[in-house]
Amino acid sequence: MQKKTGNKFLDIKDIRIGIVGATGAVGEVALEILESNSHPIENIIAIASPRSEGKKINYSNKYLIVKSFHENMLDFLDVLIISATSAVSRELSTIAKAKGILVIDDGSTFRMDDKVPLVVPEVNAYDIDWHKGIISTPNCTTTPLVMVIDSLRTLGTVIRVNVSTYQAVTGTGSLAKRELINQTKAMIDDNHYEVEVYPHPIGFNLLPHVDEFFSNGYTKEEMKMVNESKKILHDDSINISATCVRVPVRVSHSESVQIEFSNDVKIHEVLKNLNAYKGIEVFDKVDSNHYPTPLNSSGQDSVFVGRVRKDISLSNGISLWLSCDNLRKGASLNALQILNEVKKRDPERFNR
Ligand SMILES: NC(=O)c1ccc[n+]([C@@H]2O[C@H](COP(=O)([O-])OP(=O)(O)OC[C@H]3O[C@@H](n4cnc5c(N)ncnc54)[C@H](OP(=O)(O)O)[C@@H]3O)[C@@H](O)[C@H]2O)c1
Repeated sequence: MQKKTGNKFLDIKDIRIGIVGATGAVGEVALEILESNSHPIENIIAIASPRSEGKKINYSNKYLIVKSFHENMLDFLDVLIISATSAVSRELSTIAKAKGILVIDDGSTFRMDDKVPLVVPEVNAYDIDWHKGIISTPNCTTTPLVMVIDSLRTLGTVIRVNVSTYQAVTGTGSLAKRELINQTKAMIDDNHYEVEVYPHPIGFNLLPHVDEFFSNGYTKEEMKMVNESKKILHDDSINISATCVRVPVRVSHSESVQIEFSNDVKIHEVLKNLNAYKGIEVFDKVDSNHYPTPLNSSGQDSVFVGRVRKDISLSNGISLWLSCDNLRKGASLNALQILNEVKKRDPERFNR
């Protein structure tokens, strides 16, 4: 599959961006995207915890020097993109909002807040119009799912979605990536290994457990998929059930999705809609073993969809498989696309 990164279309070079969490899994990729979009280094502040103060990050043959947050930075910045912890999101967004600085938050803190739009630009860019200073990006499993559902809504009413996820360790952050690599090496060499990030080893294993368990037997991650999807799609009537599984993959989440419609849908129409939808690429030639995988979707911007077929257990259902880079479209790219959309909708906002 040819490498395709569509972020060149971002028209945000003049915007002064603070990347909070610049040393983390999501923040690092946000900087990579900005670099490939030729965003001037002078228009970026790389922010992390005091532990990382002074750390150098390669950027366009120069260095960004990591700083810990200080309120004075807001005098220079137009936007804070926060990819850190909930506590950081809460504290910094309050300070930024008071100074009229836009916040785009990658974490879960504001996602279900009625006063905060939760946005995937391809699906609900219009929700940006009612933001009050904070815009949230969805969970990295929700984003590709809602794009696929939205692309098919003209074919009939979607009444039920059943999804199982296969989630990469970078969904938990950079520490989990290290743990996967260390455990895998140690297991191959029959050496001792530490188990720190997850309750069980992730090397050569699968964990049907992403985030904490709720009393209804689902996990927090699974309920995020249910509730965030309804909010983004503005449809409380869709019945969604999710089973989220952590897998020993570095980057890119995959999902096995069954969608039930109120009426019959034809597979050629499904493929036509998926193909026509911005941000989705159909990669589905099973005769030549072509279908999305975490390896071929990582480092790419699109949601890749394959294995599209009639679901033989349902009268009006389809099954499909998708893979999507959790650090790009699942997080940082979506945040930067939101910023691009804010500028498009409100060009005056960033005039100075
Ligand atoms: N990973 C994903 O696939 C994904 C997808 C969607 C959304 N998200 C969300 O994005 C956020 C970041 O996730 P991640 O995977 O990038 O985590 P991560 O790899 O653990 O990185 C966390 C980042 O937060 C920084 N940080 C911690 N405390 C801070 C403080 N007091 N002030 C400023 N920065 C601070 C860390 O800086 P230090 O290096 O200095 O500690 C680091 O840069 C989370 O809210 C997560 O839910 C992640």
